[in-house]
Amino acid sequence: MKILVIQGPNLNNLGNRDHAIYGATTLDTIHSELRQTAAEHGVDIDTFQSNHEGELIDYIQQNANSDCAIIINPGALTHYSYSLRDAIADTQASAIEVHLSNIHAREEWRNQSVIADTCIGQISGLGAYGYTAALLYLINEGRNI
Ligand code: DQA
Repeated sequence: MKILVIQGPNLNNLGNRDHAIYGATTLDTIHSELRQTAAEHGVDIDTFQSNHEGELIDYIQQNANSDCAIIINPGALTHYSYSLRDAIADTQASAIEVHLSNIHAREEWRNQSVIADTCIGQISGLGAYGYTAALLYLINEGRNI
């Protein structure tokens, strides 16, 4: 009964990445705010970041199940990782895809998500608030938590 917050490549570097695109908030701050919101609602969350596709897949295989929900920002893997997509599809967990930037308003190659069809929905372009919105949706809808 928990929410897994999963972050893909380069998201550990938030704060140093282009502020105009990704904002200035660090991943640690995003995670501690999510932990606080989750605690206020009596929900358990686990956070995980990796720059390695296989580690993200291992984490999902080992931790995601029908009692969990997933909030995932796959970073650039969004656009081409069929193996990460399959790992999400193989779980029974409800998933929400989150992007800080609006991937539909950027380079053409970022417009496509190979992850999206495995998710309940996608939040893109709301900055760090996108994670909170996803968390509140899961809490309010009681999806797998
Ligand atoms: C991102 C968008 C991706 O295209 C990019 O590769 C990222 C971050 C976002 O949160 O806006 O690393 O997922």
